[in-house]
Amino acid sequence: MKILVTGSAGQLGRSFQEMAAKDQVHTYFFTDKQALDILSEESVRQYVKHHGVECIINCAGYTAVDLAEQDSAEARELNVKGVSVLARAANAVDGLLVHISTDYIFDGKACRPYNESASTNPLSTYGRTKLDGEVEVLLNAKRSVIIRTSWLYSPFGHNFVRTILKKGSEEDRLRVVYDQIGSPTYAPDLARAIIDLLPALPQSVRGAIYNYSNEGVCSWFDVAMAISEMAELPCEIMPVRTKDIKSVAMRPHYSVLDKSRIKHELNMDIPYWRESLRICLQRLMA
Ligand SMILES: NC(=O)c1ccc[n+]([C@@H]2O[C@H](COP(=O)([O-])OP(=O)(O)OC[C@H]3O[C@@H](n4cnc5c(N)ncnc54)[C@H](OP(=O)(O)O)[C@@H]3O)[C@@H](O)[C@H]2O)c1
Repeated sequence: MKILVTGSAGQLGRSFQEMAAKDQVHTYFFTDKQALDILSEESVRQYVKHHGVECIINCAGYTAVDLAEQDSAEARELNVKGVSVLARAANAVDGLLVHISTDYIFDGKACRPYNESASTNPLSTYGRTKLDGEVEVLLNAKRSVIIRTSWLYSPFGHNFVRTILKKGSEEDRLRVVYDQIGSPTYAPDLARAIIDLLPALPQSVRGAIYNYSNEGVCSWFDVAMAISEMAELPCEIMPVRTKDIKSVAMRPHYSVLDKSRIKHELNMDIPYWRESLRICLQRLMA
């Protein structure tokens, strides 16, 4: 399959690039914002036609959760309009659109994992724009899949793991919330899962939703403690409540995704979060 990965300079995009180097099955085209702005409808349409693209995996997005509160127009432009541009471009070549969404479409009031049909209720501008992006996919893309994921990290770009590693070696104490519960996702694991999912999808797939994260459940405090132990950081990690720290956007207190669907349909084993974290840390500290 000829696969276009948009936003390929981001964490997930770079994880796809790394994986593609070892993949003999598909042909990949990687475009960052400079090479292909997903807001430029004509450029995107021409690109997919010219290269005979059969599948678009959209890794582009506005992902700065706090900034989005003051920058909502830009977040909406990218997370909603950009998605509709990609949907129409995919339709123009009868291609499949794979779109990435987030656990932040939920309000976190549940006490058991969210499955794909759970009711949504985003608490933040970022979450609202991502949910509206899903609606664009559902309404406009004739062949489409939405992958919801959570707490993405990788050896690349900005993410919690890299922040704790850096701050944990510079500061004596770090305060980390223990009342936001979820599951981290190692971006290379997610990239692999998406590529494994493609051949299992029917030609006529439209608007199918799949959850994916690493296995296990934890708080951000637990993740920070695991990083601290594995990387032998000299700093103390202090558990604090969300209400005790300054953050602009509201985040769900509980956003564990139920992965039963992808696991059963693909007979997939998903790595436990601490195992993938260890792999990421080994790479970052090599
Ligand atoms: N990060 C998380 O914790 C998380 C959790 C759940 C779901 N997700 C979703 O997973 C997806 C990938 O996330 P990520 O963490 O890999 O994101 P990321 O690292 O922020 O990468 C997003 C990429 O999109 C690019 N981009 C921005 N505007 C663009 C445009 N107009 N055209 C083309 N590319 C553009 C960005 O380029 P610039 O940097 O140059 O602007 C950046 O390289 C997103 O849809 C996100 O919502 C993320």
